[in-house]
Amino acid sequence: MKLTTAFLVALAVTVATTSAVAVKRAAPQGIDVSHYQGAVNFAAAAANGISFAYIKVTEGTTYIDPEFSNNYVAATNTGIIRGGYHFAHPDASSGATQAQYFLAHGGGWSSDGITLPGALDIEYNPSGAECYGLSASAMVSWIQDFSNTYHSHTGVYPVIYTTTDWWTTCTGNSAAFGSTNPLWIARYASSIGTLPAGWAYTTFWQYADSGSNPGDQDEFNGSLQGLKNLALG
Ligand SMILES: *[C@@H]1O[C@H](CO)[C@@H](O)[C@H](O)[C@H]1NC(C)=O
Repeated sequence: MKLTTAFLVALAVTVATTSAVAVKRAAPQGIDVSHYQGAVNFAAAAANGISFAYIKVTEGTTYIDPEFSNNYVAATNTGIIRGGYHFAHPDASSGATQAQYFLAHGGGWSSDGITLPGALDIEYNPSGAECYGLSASAMVSWIQDFSNTYHSHTGVYPVIYTTTDWWTTCTGNSAAFGSTNPLWIARYASSIGTLPAGWAYTTFWQYADSGSNPGDQDEFNGSLQGLKNLALG
């Protein structure tokens, strides 16, 4: 995931002043990875406590993560509950087009008990215009287009990965998705803080960008059975 320098500085301060991210966690643990992590040793990660993983599939309509296939197969063979994620480029093409690209390259879903709904990673892009140059209402429409397209092909709504700061700034804190799309919030602190409008709780929490396993560190807000239920749809 891409993070702004300011966010990383804030993280460094948080880590320096609290030991929050080192606290032992009871909820199901997971990771999210992309080609930056190379070929992930999922057997080692599973032995070290993870039960789920999100693996980057695509960006926009021009990029397929070169490690996606290898890592998805490796996670599957290790018995990890896994899903794919798509990094949104709302300035590049429509939400429907990007959902179809994601679906066509491994981001699909089936009710097999081991596949998490695909995730839409929507956040600041440090190399682009703020909010990709879209108004809040255009951004909400773009996300709806992606989400509805994904739902019409798979029967489930995609998870939305974001930060409260980005969502507030770029969607006008839209409450339009809280009753349909599971939330995956990124916040590197000891508590999750204020959630975006519309969501009463988060489904996933990305609480650190490094830790005892490869990639970003995540947890599921619930029990292992709850995680399996999400994978069943
Ligand atoms: C986790 O989910 C429960 C509802 O199942 C909710 O009460 C709680 O606030 C959630 N935690 C977070 C951090 O969202």
